[in-house]
Amino acid sequence: MSYCLNPHCSQPENTDDVQFCQTCGTKLLLKERYRAIKPIGQGGFGRTFLAVDEDKPSKPPCVIKQFLPQGTNTVQKAVDLFNQEAIQLDELGQHSQIPALLAYCNQDDRQYLVQEFIDGLNLYQELEQNGAFNETQIRQLLNDLLLVLQFCHSKQVIHRDIKPENIIRRHSDHKLVIVDFGAAKSATETALNRTGTIIGSAEYVAPEQMRGKALFASDIYSLGVTCINLLTERSPFDSYDTHNAAWIWGQYLKTPVSPELSKIINKMVETIPSHRYQTVDEVIKDLNFQPSSSLPKQVTPPISPPPAVVKTSTQIEKELQELKTQFTGGKPQPKNVNSQPQSSSNDPIDKELEELKAKFMNNE
Ligand SMILES: Nc1ncnc2c1ncn2[C@@H]1O[C@H](COP(=O)(O)OP(=O)(O)O)[C@@H](O)[C@H]1O
Ligand SMILES: [Mg+2]
Repeated sequence: MSYCLNPHCSQPENTDDVQFCQTCGTKLLLKERYRAIKPIGQGGFGRTFLAVDEDKPSKPPCVIKQFLPQGTNTVQKAVDLFNQEAIQLDELGQHSQIPALLAYCNQDDRQYLVQEFIDGLNLYQELEQNGAFNETQIRQLLNDLLLVLQFCHSKQVIHRDIKPENIIRRHSDHKLVIVDFGAAKSATETALNRTGTIIGSAEYVAPEQMRGKALFASDIYSLGVTCINLLTERSPFDSYDTHNAAWIWGQYLKTPVSPELSKIINKMVETIPSHRYQTVDEVIKDLNFQPSSSLPKQVTPPISPPPAVVKTSTQIEKELQELKTQFTGGKPQPKNVNSQPQSSSNDPIDKELEELKAKFMNNE
């Protein structure tokens, strides 16, 4: 199959052995080498095609993005934004989780980007296929994507359109890849609203970005909303109480989520930018924060109040013995760890431990 790139062509499907469209005569190969096979996306300002590179013997797949300006007053702005996408992609494409830019060209007065093809389902498709994500999956997703966003932000690029459709899980290594760079879809508020109704992007856009002021934190917001969508399997609009201007996604969870993760997501989707995480680093830090209870045990003996965990006397024996070993500089002790400590011992450490044990056992 070969798909005609002319957006006005009445019969764009052609066989893959022809050079020109059999219906409208448009050249089918872009830059004499890239052949569109089928459309895979239609945004407000462009179309995306699955394509092949006929210049290589194996004819590897690639992706063609075609720029289609809509309305005369925004053409220049949209063209500028498309050029910007090319420059950004070229630099960002160095990252393994962002598609590499293969070519950038003008043909028949339209602009094109050719990108590396990422084999895999996007998260919208994955959600449809496998159902809602759980906490572990969301944590993995965040740890993976936050690093890609960190890279983008370090290059001063705000993605502006983070949402499940723009995140592909690559089959080969299960890594998440971010696609659809460039601000073309948020060129004007009118365009944004129109795009929103077509592809549902508006649901993921931060309020300040809606008003034309995108910040790095706007991507954090969109990523948070993406998590909400993946956890609830609902449109993010339906997880927001507009009367009270509050997120209510917690009511629609498919599986429970820890208070820690809830807190992180809620801070990612704060409506007021200054209440939100300002940088990706802050989110990463909170996400990987280890509460002190899960840190290695302290050597300080627990005194009052007694620990909530009910311990058996053997456990206490063991811990006291360990403590003693620490106090005595780790010198080997003749006693068996499991044997009862000799109350007749004259060793002052033994005495103290005995007292400690007595205190403990009374509290059991
Ligand atoms: N490099 C790529 N490799 C594979 N699939 C892609 C690639 N880029 C985009 N896609 C798929 O095509 C869809 C549309 O492309 P996208 O760049 O998001 O354009 P738009 O949202 O403007 O239509 C994406 O949701 C994704 O599923
Ligand atoms: Mg997209």
